[in-house]
Amino acid sequence: MSERADVLVTRPIMEAPTAVLRERCDVTIHQNEFGIPREELLEVIGGRDAIITMLTERVDAEFLEAAGPQLKVVANHAVGFDNIDVAACSAAGVLATNTPDVLTETTADTAFALLMAAARRVGEGERFLRSKTPWIWGPLMMLGQDVHHKTIGIVGFGRIGQAVARRARGFGMRVIYADAVQLPPEVAAETGAERRELAELLAESDFISIHTNLTPETRHLFDAEAFRAMKSTAVLVNTSRGPVVDESALAEALENDEIFAAGLDVFEREPDVEARLLNLENVVVIPHLGSATVDTRNAMGELAVDNVFAALLGTRPPTLLNPDAFGG
Ligand code: DGY
Repeated sequence: MSERADVLVTRPIMEAPTAVLRERCDVTIHQNEFGIPREELLEVIGGRDAIITMLTERVDAEFLEAAGPQLKVVANHAVGFDNIDVAACSAAGVLATNTPDVLTETTADTAFALLMAAARRVGEGERFLRSKTPWIWGPLMMLGQDVHHKTIGIVGFGRIGQAVARRARGFGMRVIYADAVQLPPEVAAETGAERRELAELLAESDFISIHTNLTPETRHLFDAEAFRAMKSTAVLVNTSRGPVVDESALAEALENDEIFAAGLDVFEREPDVEARLLNLENVVVIPHLGSATVDTRNAMGELAVDNVFAALLGTRPPTLLNPDAFGG
C-alpha cells in the first residue's frame, strides 16, 4: 500500500473502523439514508481500489465492470453474501470477503429474543397496554406457549444455529436440527442436538429457528406445505434471509392458526413487509436487527477493514470467500 488506495464504503459504518480505514486510505463514505439507487451505485464505484458493500447492494458482473479493472476487493459488511456473485468476482480477479464469526452470538441472541417474544406474546401485550384499553389481570389472558423443556428444531446448523442451540440448552430444551452436514461428535455432545430430516423436524418441533443461507435450494423452503406439516402450537423464527420463507403462505398459516406465531427479523421483499403480516397479532417483526449491537457492528467494521487492508497489501484476507481468486 505505498500509494493511498481509493476506498468506497457504500453506507456509513461505525466510527472506529472508519477512522482506521482513513489512516491508510482515501475513503469516500456514501451518504444515503435509503441506500444507493443502482444507477448511482454503478457511477460511484468507478475507479475504486476497494469497496465495502452492504447486503443491500448486488455485486454482479455489471457492478464489477462498472468498478473497473483496478478493483481488488469487495468486502461485504455482513456474513450473508447472497448479494454477491462470488463466481463473477473470481472471473474478474476480484477478492470477495464477508464478516463471519464476529456476529454469531449477537444474531443468536436476536433469534432467541424473537422466539421468546413470539411465544409469550410480548409484542401483542405491549401494543395492548399502549392502546390504553381498560384491563385487569385474568387467568385466561393472553396465554402463550412455554419455551422451557420444549423441542427446538434448528434448520441450518452452522455457527449461528449452534449458538441458538446452546441458548436453548440453557432453557432445558431438546434440540434437533436439519442440515446437509452431519455434526462433528464434539458439537453434537456440546449441544445435545440430534439430526432429523426436514419433514421429521417440522412435525416434531415446538419451535423452529431458521439459519440457512439463501440459495436456489432454500428459497421458499418454508412454504404452505411446510406450515401444514408443523404443529398448530409451533413458533417459527427467521433471522437468516427473508426469501427462505414464502411470506404470503406464512401470513395465511398465521391467519388460519395453522401455527401459533412467528418472529421475523428478515423479509422476502425487504424492506417491504407483507401487509397481511403487519395486521396480525401473532407476529413479532423487527427490521433486520440480527447483528445490530454497538460491539458487533464495530467488530464487523473492523473485520471488513482488515479484509480490505489485506487485499490491498496482496496478502490473503482473513475471511476470503473466493480463494480461487487469490491463487487457491
Ligand atoms: C448478515 O450479516 O448477513 C446479517 O444479515 C446482517 O448483519
